[in-house]
Amino acid sequence: MRIVSGIQPTGNLHLGNYLGAIKNWVKLQQESECLFFLADLHAITVPNDPAELSANCRNMVAALVAAGVDTKKSILFNQARVPAHAELAWLLICNTPMGWLDRMTQFKEKSGKHKQRSSLGLLGYPVLQAADVLIYQATHVPVGEDQRQHLELARDVAAKFNNDSKTEVFTSPEAYYGAAAARIMSLRDGTSKMSKSDPSDLSRINMTDDDDTIAKKIKKARTDAEPLPAKLEELENRPEAKNLVGIYAALNDSTAQAVLDQYAGQGFGAFKPALADLAVAQLSPIRSRYEALREDTDAIDAILRDGAQRARALAQPTLDKAYAALGLLRD
Ligand code: TYM
Repeated sequence: MRIVSGIQPTGNLHLGNYLGAIKNWVKLQQESECLFFLADLHAITVPNDPAELSANCRNMVAALVAAGVDTKKSILFNQARVPAHAELAWLLICNTPMGWLDRMTQFKEKSGKHKQRSSLGLLGYPVLQAADVLIYQATHVPVGEDQRQHLELARDVAAKFNNDSKTEVFTSPEAYYGAAAARIMSLRDGTSKMSKSDPSDLSRINMTDDDDTIAKKIKKARTDAEPLPAKLEELENRPEAKNLVGIYAALNDSTAQAVLDQYAGQGFGAFKPALADLAVAQLSPIRSRYEALREDTDAIDAILRDGAQRARALAQPTLDKAYAALGLLRD
């Protein structure tokens, strides 16, 4: 197994990232070779403040290490330090039909009514994401459910390149979802995902929130008036209740059914404080480590440099094969 995954260094790590992806990164690194990266080249597909981007990158490293990414075992780096990502992305862009890209959900959402003014990079975003995983021959990509379409595109891109060039340059990567937490929803609206871009801070729990803020956000989370049911199916039309049960299960490494077995018949007056206690107990030590780590920018830069050096060596053979498959002459 070769595990590869990335995160955009835009804003704080939030509970959706943590439970949907990062907790699995931490688990998978115990038994497999892992490469994790900051998708800084993806971040610039939309306008960015350069100083903020650099600061966000460093903070994200501190957050990932605080959450348990072990930089001795795993390779942690930023894309910009490994030019093979951008190089392979170009080779793949030249072999990917535009029609595959302008129907991608994320492009439609992010470009909205301003398609003509969106960057070409935003359209090509999923191809860079394909390059990110294909360059390392990734077998598994631990992500949240929102990345499903991008992962499917990566498989299509790999198959088309192999097929057109009559080679086997790329391995087809599988998505790997967090069992209980593939989709953590907004605390204000159980039908939209928890996200850094939601204008309401009450919609998400940031990994930097203090204990009182975490408890307050859970207390204010939107719910309904019914007690928790005994059976999972009965949560189907109760998106907010389902989301809180899912968050509890994911934090507790259990299942939604196990949570219902414990809380069936109880209302949110009892369930929310229990959830808040569990969230604080798990997130508070991560926050303390984060605060200590983020001060040391030299140590953070050293982590990224070391990771990039290791990543460059792993990327090179596939990049060479991809150039050769296209008949491009190089030294
Ligand atoms: P990003 O930065 O939006 O999110 C990072 C990871 O967090 C997961 N995630 C969620 N999981 C469950 N519930 C949520 N509400 C939630 N919000 C975010 C995401 O699924 C992701 O796993 N395009 C990617 C970054 C990327 C990448 C890659 C990922 C670039 N190249 C190659 C994997 C492989 C993104 O914007 O993730």
